[in-house]
Amino acid sequence: MANRRDFLKTSLLGASASLLAWGGRLKAAAPAARPAAAVRVVSTWDFGIAANQAAWAILGKGGHALDAVEAGARVPEADLKNHSVGRAGYPDRDGHVTLDASIMDHNYNCGAVAAIEHIAHPISVARRVMERTPHVLLVGDGALQFALEQGFKKEELLTPESEQAWHAWLKTAKYQPSINSEVRDYDKAGRPGGANNHDTIGMLALDAHGKLAGACTTSGMAWKLHGRVGDSPIIGAGLYVDGEIGGATSTGVGEEVIRNAGSFLVVELMRQGRTPQEACKEAVMRIVKRRAEASKTLQVGFLAMNRDGEVGAYAIQRGFSYAVCDAHKQDALLPSPSVYTTNYS
Ligand code: GLY
Repeated sequence: MANRRDFLKTSLLGASASLLAWGGRLKAAAPAARPAAAVRVVSTWDFGIAANQAAWAILGKGGHALDAVEAGARVPEADLKNHSVGRAGYPDRDGHVTLDASIMDHNYNCGAVAAIEHIAHPISVARRVMERTPHVLLVGDGALQFALEQGFKKEELLTPESEQAWHAWLKTAKYQPSINSEVRDYDKAGRPGGANNHDTIGMLALDAHGKLAGACTTSGMAWKLHGRVGDSPIIGAGLYVDGEIGGATSTGVGEEVIRNAGSFLVVELMRQGRTPQEACKEAVMRIVKRRAEASKTLQVGFLAMNRDGEVGAYAIQRGFSYAVCDAHKQDALLPSPSVYTTNYS
């Protein structure tokens, strides 16, 4: 019979063999397959509908959650009408478009880029960081250098429309980030959203193999200080996935989310037995309690999905919406419950 030392040695050897693939990429036994009904992708905001549909083209055919969220996140990154994600994102106060993105799979593999310039699809660079480096986060010039080495094209991301908006802002140059840009009215049909699409896309997908993955990508706050990084590329803040529990992602004022390790908090609350919505609500309430006065005029929203495909969301302000896509319906857009029920103005 193996003694304890032999057992430990064997276990550690086994563990390190199974944990090391790219000299560090984590691998584990695949989770059990999910019933088709639970295969699902969810995304923040109304631009999540189109992102979900791109993800569903993969998920619906039995594809992997990681591929699905990357494909989905690329949709708003390429959308020239979307000024809060990817190309055409509003620049910082000095006129630079700097992008943040992160991606994470069911088994703690993750990658991110922050304050990257000139690359239209930071989510795909984040995935390369995850899969081709021993690191989690690359920033600024280093992230750009890595992207170019990986064959990504260097491009001008500042569109004439975004440049015009920046020049309009420069007339006052009031350094008051548009923290309420995410607070939106309902349209005439009562659907959340409307003309002003703002802020981060966060996506969570559960595939037919029972695996979860998430992605988060943004150009961050318009007119931010050069070098400012929000929550989106910070694993545990803007995005967190635990394959045994669920995933969470956030939108809104990144500084508030980082202070609370918001997405990690949501996942940990689900681990303790909260439903996705209860967990999102508690994470929001911690911000509201800590920042009683400021929270009246800022927006943070969380979106979560557990490993059974149950979905929940909660926001500080009214107007946050999330898109849900599964075999039943591909273009659902739901209003998130919120602490405050009247729009801030
Ligand atoms: N949530 C996006 C940001 O604060 O940058």
